[in-house]
Amino acid sequence: MSNRTFAIIKPDAVRNGDTGKIYDRILKSGFNILSAKLIKLTLSQAEGFYAVHSERPFFGELTEFMSSGKCMVLALEKDNAVLEWRKTIGATNPIEADEGTIRKDFATSVGENAVHGSDSDENATIEISYFFTGSEIIQNS
Ligand code: CMP
Repeated sequence: MSNRTFAIIKPDAVRNGDTGKIYDRILKSGFNILSAKLIKLTLSQAEGFYAVHSERPFFGELTEFMSSGKCMVLALEKDNAVLEWRKTIGATNPIEADEGTIRKDFATSVGENAVHGSDSDENATIEISYFFTGSEIIQNS
């Protein structure tokens, strides 16, 4: 079944000039890009997005990093999109990421790990609607 996931090309990857290369990986991995935009999160937007991690010791570091520069947010579509995107990006910590994954090739640490991916269909829906209005999701090109 074709479904959706949410992705971020994070500030480290944008700063390093890797946006285009990662966008190309998304297309070559067979995802249909329903929407994409370049934004700079405010600290409070980052805190809201990652609210589930608010009690974790790395929350301050994570939200400061995510609001430190431009990032690209994307709504993606593919059969089993959540699982397929997580396979494409690799493990959260790039040291543990498989060869050929985006985090293996572009991430530098668990904190600055190049990309984000939703962890469930339910969270994909929540995360897509955090950044995109319904009219920004383009079903048919
Ligand atoms: P992401 O997939 O965006 O979801 C939550 C993020 O928290 C995760 O990627 C990591 O970038 C970050 N994170 C997880 N564990 C740590 C950690 N130990 N130190 C710093 N950041 C972390």
